[in-house]
Amino acid sequence: MSTEDPAFGDREPQNMSREELARVADEFGDTQVVSKPPKWPVAGTKAEKRSERLAALLFALSALSAIAFVVTFSVWPQAYVSPFDNGYIWYKLYTPVVGSTFAIAVLSLGVGMIAYIRRFFPDEVSVQQRHDGPSGELARKTLAAQYREAGDDVGIPRRSLIMRLALSAGGLFGVAAGVLAIGPFVRQPWKGGGQAALWITGWKPLNGETVYLRLKTSVTGEIVRLRPEDMKPGAMMTVFPFRESDRGNEELLVAAEHASDSPVMLIRLPPGTPVHKRPGQENFNYGDYYAFSKVCTHLGCPASLYDSQNHISLCPCHQSEFLITDSAKPVFGPATRALPQLPITVNNEGLFVARGDFIEPIGPAFWEIRSRQG
Ligand code: FES
Repeated sequence: MSTEDPAFGDREPQNMSREELARVADEFGDTQVVSKPPKWPVAGTKAEKRSERLAALLFALSALSAIAFVVTFSVWPQAYVSPFDNGYIWYKLYTPVVGSTFAIAVLSLGVGMIAYIRRFFPDEVSVQQRHDGPSGELARKTLAAQYREAGDDVGIPRRSLIMRLALSAGGLFGVAAGVLAIGPFVRQPWKGGGQAALWITGWKPLNGETVYLRLKTSVTGEIVRLRPEDMKPGAMMTVFPFRESDRGNEELLVAAEHASDSPVMLIRLPPGTPVHKRPGQENFNYGDYYAFSKVCTHLGCPASLYDSQNHISLCPCHQSEFLITDSAKPVFGPATRALPQLPITVNNEGLFVARGDFIEPIGPAFWEIRSRQG
């Protein structure tokens, strides 16, 4: 190729070095490099080595975290485990471990790139004139040389370890992001059908064991099981599931209290209060006593500000109101679904017990489609 462009003078581009081509590219771009002091005037100093180690360490950390994320996401047992079952602690750790490994991969990759740019990119000052229209053909042809020259300036060819680590970190992060994107289409959190742990709550009697309605007290380890005579007409109490096999096991007792689908409002209506019951749930109450999930079906706040005059349970978050005398149907606010009702009775000891689990999902969730709309 030959050219009569004055930027080349009497030289042929194919006979010019990369540095010369890069300078010509500057001229085509009408760019003047005002100053470009080298970042490390003396090569191989301890400070430069320290900077290299820092960048390499961050990229290596990113790569390892991305691998840890992929492995965790792929093989960690993530299916829901009830607080009453073995393996609950592993289930509880799944989200923190997946989240932290992904976060470390992103953060260390980003911080590594910033560290490398700050410590190795020259502080170049250039002035370029603005032009209309596209660049000429020769300007485009010399651009590659200019990029490679820039790569030399920041020491990429000399720092192959950092380059390899950065590419590995970037590539593995891409793999992690891809796994994250397609994972939900592959994994099946609902294995087990209707008995999958996500479909049941702590109120489900397991192996025939009775589940009592228990008060939460401020006294550690105290178990207060409720009787009908503990409540006056118009009263409301929050209760939690309790089974005798949990007695003395602080971990299980606390887990039963803290499970998000455990809290239930036990309400005693005044005698003679007219009530409309849902078809199929006519025997879910015990006399004037009714038990409803406390978890708001809008966004999951505790809907337990109870107005005993009007039999309304109010959720303070967005003011949804549920009419307890009409099967906790929503009568105001954004909630569209009634509070699920827990079937209860009193056993031969005179204690409240659950007759079974809820028959519909608790709180807001996509699987609420099977539930009655308000
Ligand atoms: S969470 Fe209850 S109204 Fe929004």
